[in-house]
Amino acid sequence: MRVCLTGGAGFVGSHVLLDLIAQQHDVLVLDNFSTTSPTSLVRARSLSNGNFEIATEDVCNLAGVTSLFQEFRPDCVIHCAGLKAVGESQDQPLRYYGENVSGAINLLKAMDVSGCKMIIFSSSATVYGEPHYLPYDEAHPVEPTNVYGRTKAFVENIIEDWVAVEPSRSAALLRYFNPVGAHSSGEIGEDPLGIPNNLMPYIADVAVGNRDKLAIFGDDYATPDGTGVRDYIHISDLSLGHLAAVDFLDSNHGVHIFNLGSGKGYSVLEVVQAFETASGKPVPYEIAPRRSGDIAMSYADPGKANKSLGWETKLSLDDMCADVWRWRTKNPTGYRS
Ligand code: WQD
Repeated sequence: MRVCLTGGAGFVGSHVLLDLIAQQHDVLVLDNFSTTSPTSLVRARSLSNGNFEIATEDVCNLAGVTSLFQEFRPDCVIHCAGLKAVGESQDQPLRYYGENVSGAINLLKAMDVSGCKMIIFSSSATVYGEPHYLPYDEAHPVEPTNVYGRTKAFVENIIEDWVAVEPSRSAALLRYFNPVGAHSSGEIGEDPLGIPNNLMPYIADVAVGNRDKLAIFGDDYATPDGTGVRDYIHISDLSLGHLAAVDFLDSNHGVHIFNLGSGKGYSVLEVVQAFETASGKPVPYEIAPRRSGDIAMSYADPGKANKSLGWETKLSLDDMCADVWRWRTKNPTGYRS
């Protein structure tokens, strides 16, 4: 299949790129490199047959995206490009609505011009908000509590309305839980700009010596050890969930929503312990006040994806930590030399 992969230089995108190539798809990577490094694509080329195209373009540039689609004529779009820092989204709502929502609308417009009828969207479990029940299944109410989550929920609704117009259209809305880990080669991985917002890259920074200690945001939650519980999913498992969605949409029209998670929750302290074991390095920490907007527990019911996509996670928390450690020891400052 001819696949346009937006955000293909990013953490998720670069892993999906390798799996698309491995499964003989023809890929055009579209990335504006505003939060990603072209080095990830250099690495991807060396880890594969190197047979993919790159377009430096911004999804906010409708004319540019439309021209690319008219030339490349994708059969499917996998939309990973977007801004994803929850805290930043609260401070810069218009930037997030512009990039995440207007960008998605532009992609759909360009798909219409070029006759592309299939989209896979990188959504997030953040759309669920405070849990009414756990584990989250796809029927859980969508009640995002931050701008980032609302951008994801708005785009889900826009895609649903776009598919409703034309019965031959198809869409998979993939609600990611907590993607972590790195490619087993240690050559590609998560490379956040500035101070990491997320737990795993921050822990890795401490273990590799870039930061003194981890601040654990609260140990008084209603969880087994008082620290936040999340459903961590290895980026390689997450990536294969996209490939399974491509195959599924090839024979299923309409809109299909899937939770991509392991179904198991781990606390912050459990992740710290697992990383110390994987790295052999101490991860000093201090208990800090709760982070605004955090919830106590979040983990998936992945049953629908397991059944419909024939997909399930296979890699453990130990695998996630070991692969992050390999990536960070080989690349102490990520892609930036
Ligand atoms: C995990 C746990 C924190 C950092 C976010 C986005 C979500 C998705 C994944 C994109 C929580 C605790 C964290 C730290 C800490 N991203 N923590 N100290 O908040 O579950 O989800 O990233 O799709 O959309 O919302 O992930 O890694 O930030 O936090 O104690 O320095 O680690 O309180 O319990 P989160 P996270």
